[in-house]
Amino acid sequence: MKMLQIKDISKKFGLITAVEDFSVDIGNGELLAVLGPSGCGKSTLLSCIAGILKADKGEIFLGKRCLYSAQKGINVPPEERNIGFVFQNYALWPHMTAERNISYPLRIRKRTKPFIKKEVNHILSLLRLEDKGNRYPHQLSGGEQQRVSLGRALIMGPDLLLLDEPLSNLDARLREEMQKEIRKIQRDLKLTVIHVTHDQSEALAMSDRIVVMNNGKFIQEGSPDDVYNNPNSIFAADFVGTSNIIRGKVVKSINKLILVCGSDFRFDVSHIPIKPGEHAVFSVRPEDIDITLKKKGTANPVGTGVIVEHIYRGAHIQYEVKIGDNSLKVQVHPADSFETGDVVFLYFKRIKRLK
Ligand SMILES: Nc1ncnc2c1ncn2[C@@H]1O[C@H](COP(=O)(O)OP(=O)(O)O)[C@@H](O)[C@H]1O
Ligand SMILES: [Mg+2]
Repeated sequence: MKMLQIKDISKKFGLITAVEDFSVDIGNGELLAVLGPSGCGKSTLLSCIAGILKADKGEIFLGKRCLYSAQKGINVPPEERNIGFVFQNYALWPHMTAERNISYPLRIRKRTKPFIKKEVNHILSLLRLEDKGNRYPHQLSGGEQQRVSLGRALIMGPDLLLLDEPLSNLDARLREEMQKEIRKIQRDLKLTVIHVTHDQSEALAMSDRIVVMNNGKFIQEGSPDDVYNNPNSIFAADFVGTSNIIRGKVVKSINKLILVCGSDFRFDVSHIPIKPGEHAVFSVRPEDIDITLKKKGTANPVGTGVIVEHIYRGAHIQYEVKIGDNSLKVQVHPADSFETGDVVFLYFKRIKRLK
């Protein structure tokens, strides 16, 4: 079932187009990540969905209910949309305890005291904050403040939960813990969630589906695996994970098609629908390149290169290998280390053509 439908939403601020003709559907109980660089329009998109901002055009449906339609002149006020919003900076009331912050949406709706007590206790235990209810935000750690903010968004039983980079202020370990925790709560409560982030590893780790966004525009959507392995553009290849972008021209060589990228840098593209004479762009992941000091048996290397730099990343080493005018990032297991200046043969295990 389509829970949320966003159709051709645009939003301008003066001359800046923050969101442009953006459309996406989200299924019931799905966690969708909207992934894009800082300033690409993610927060603006969420604000339009929540009704904090009014889009310039387009339509938004939640279930069968129209929340916004420029053509029909519909614009449901934010407090009637039943959408929970967790802001990047938490936006907690500093003069209210955790409990008062969480119960705020119920108190302004004048629910009874016993009802509020019961609901708040449920949320505190769900978020493992039972003993922190009486603390003020400044007496809570970043992760605890984040959970209070999540609690305030959950207490109304929202039809849709919007998370605006909720984990970006947390340290790496806590961020990973919260990713798991949010995912568990989302699954347990069968919540429909849009999680916006600029962090590709977070989007890959947490979501059912990813939408890649750039300059206010929809770029690509798919499962994490699909977006990572089949990027549809140079932008997606480079933003979701690391990619080497390689350009060349196809030439026919006896019974093969070869992409010529430089005088000593070429590889077989016979298995790809492509024609001689075409100029093409390919992406190759650093983990999909093998480098060796000695030539491998019968396999043809794409060329030879020189190691010019390395970055130690613990689980692997990333080398920069110069091959003609190109510079490729190559990921290697620390047990197979190389020296700067080593001349190596390069082999591609997997290549993707980009449009
Ligand atoms: N209230 C505003 N007034 C003017 N420009 C804005 C406003 N909010 C956002 N922008 C601009 O719109 C673009 C998208 O911003 P934003 O949605 O915050 O991006 P993101 O959340 O992806 O970092 C940016 O260029 C930003 O400067
Ligand atoms: Mg933002």
